[in-house]
Amino acid sequence: MKPIIEILEEKISAVMSEVAGQEKCSAVIKQASDPKFGDYQANGIMALAKQLKTNPRKLADQVVEKLDISDICESPEIAGPGFINLRLKPEFISNGLLEINKDSVNLAVEKTTEPKNAVVDFSGPNIAKQMHVGHLRSTIIGDCICRMLKFLGHNVIPQNHVGDWGTQFGMLIAYLKDQQHNVDPDFVVTFDNDSGEITEDIEKANSIFVEISDLEKFYRDAKQKFDIDPEFKKWARTSVFLLQRRNKEEVLMWEAIVRASREHYLPIYERLKVNLKAKDERGESAYNDDLPHVVADLKKANLAKESDGAMCVFLDGFKNKEGEPLPFIIQKSDGAFLYATTDLAALRYRVGKLKADEIIYVTDARQKLHFEMLFAVARKAGWANDNVKLNHVMFGSVLGENGQPLKTRSGENVKLKELLDEAIERATKVVEQKNPELSLEEKKKIAQAVGIGAVKYADYSNNRTSDYVFSFDKMLAMEGNTAPYMQYAYARIKSIERKAESKGVDIATELGSISTLNLSEPTELELAKHLMRYGEAIQYAVSDFKPNYLTAYLYELAQKFSTFYTSCPVLIAEPDQRPTRLLLCDLTARTIKHGLTELLGIDVVEQM
Ligand code: ARG
Repeated sequence: MKPIIEILEEKISAVMSEVAGQEKCSAVIKQASDPKFGDYQANGIMALAKQLKTNPRKLADQVVEKLDISDICESPEIAGPGFINLRLKPEFISNGLLEINKDSVNLAVEKTTEPKNAVVDFSGPNIAKQMHVGHLRSTIIGDCICRMLKFLGHNVIPQNHVGDWGTQFGMLIAYLKDQQHNVDPDFVVTFDNDSGEITEDIEKANSIFVEISDLEKFYRDAKQKFDIDPEFKKWARTSVFLLQRRNKEEVLMWEAIVRASREHYLPIYERLKVNLKAKDERGESAYNDDLPHVVADLKKANLAKESDGAMCVFLDGFKNKEGEPLPFIIQKSDGAFLYATTDLAALRYRVGKLKADEIIYVTDARQKLHFEMLFAVARKAGWANDNVKLNHVMFGSVLGENGQPLKTRSGENVKLKELLDEAIERATKVVEQKNPELSLEEKKKIAQAVGIGAVKYADYSNNRTSDYVFSFDKMLAMEGNTAPYMQYAYARIKSIERKAESKGVDIATELGSISTLNLSEPTELELAKHLMRYGEAIQYAVSDFKPNYLTAYLYELAQKFSTFYTSCPVLIAEPDQRPTRLLLCDLTARTIKHGLTELLGIDVVEQM
């Protein structure tokens, strides 16, 4: 089923084109702001009239006269200076619901006719550092984007651009050596970036990893030694040099550190229900060999030139505060490559090897300029032509209740793992209050779904470009646009259905054989229309990469359900009304479940 807004846009635009005698007119269909005016509104007449130098109401008349949408809408009404108001016909809505009812997998949401290769670059934690709350947004927003694109039929290629290279590894390796972690040269851990295969000698590997299981501490201790011990500093420098020369011992130690980090973040992805696996990892180190070529190619193209000893690309339109040209630095005077160089190599790989039609980078807003420059250089160099879409999907910060970036009391970054533990702990109390009779097993399961769901949903439901205040109390509230509210709405419908079954109603059979609906109550119609807009909501959310459009849709759905359920009894409904009402219940539950589990990666529970 095509989104209604799209059908109307197509049909009315076509008639406008015909009347105006020109191609590419746009009807500009919007959802009506007030049900008084119907369900949708065509706003494009005024602009066209202005362009044709004609009276907009007259133009609207002409369009309406030629328009045949009687299978969808009641006769259109012209209002104000030339708006066309459209009201859906109950038969059209009934048929739509029946179609959704038949498609238990996709809820009749139409797949794309032009599948794209979409590379989604998200999460990107930095090796040897614990993931903290700052990584939360990239990880879960990126995952939601992948899920939505995939659901619409695109070919999604996730890329975890982990920070696994840099001079800090000299320090870490030196510290590993310092702590007498000698590596058996026969012991091999290799990670093949292309196949995602890991070859390892687990036993020997573990002997190193156990001791650096507290990565954060390990990093801190290494840094401390680095800062005060000049001898150690020298050692660190030698280690980087040896690592860059691919000296076996250093490479093995580097791999050990990378692996320890991976063992730390993969379980977090799993807990968050984020579909990011080891095979999706293609870290900065994967591009090492290509970096000299990136620089050489940009030099050859006359794009890179030396400035103060560093290799830079200068592009029109990028100036600093003083109005001087801003460099995109790709190689420092000491020969070292930078974040920018790696990103250029990665972009070229994604377009060239992964055949990306679109690349979506999900990072915080502070990297805005970096990506603007990256895209501009890549375009100029011809590494991404106009057919390749490049998007920086940025987001704001997570703030504490004091309005400052979220930190622990002692001023450290909040570790993601601890944050999730606390969410589950607090959710347990909510479940306990709500439903003390449940078995311990049940309570645990629900607390898990509610706790993790609350953290994710709170993030998703905020417009990603704004900062938001992290508040356990708000995200775990049973009222408002929260995960527990949505999960409860779902569980409530399930309990209605259980009750019906216990009274002898065979829901599957009743809904399986339903062929006509009786949508006579206004609240039934309102809910039904909203159910038909699911595909539209997903399209909106994808087109702007904004999960909050989806959460807003789901929240509205739950509210419309509530209004319907308050005014329309289901179990004691008349025989000619009950099947329709049961269907409304069931489709609402299925839509909530699909949205939460399939697109947002949040579990639902059957009772709460
Ligand atoms: N590791 C980076 C960070 O922590 C994120 C990587 C984003 N992706 C990219 N291609 N630059 O900020």
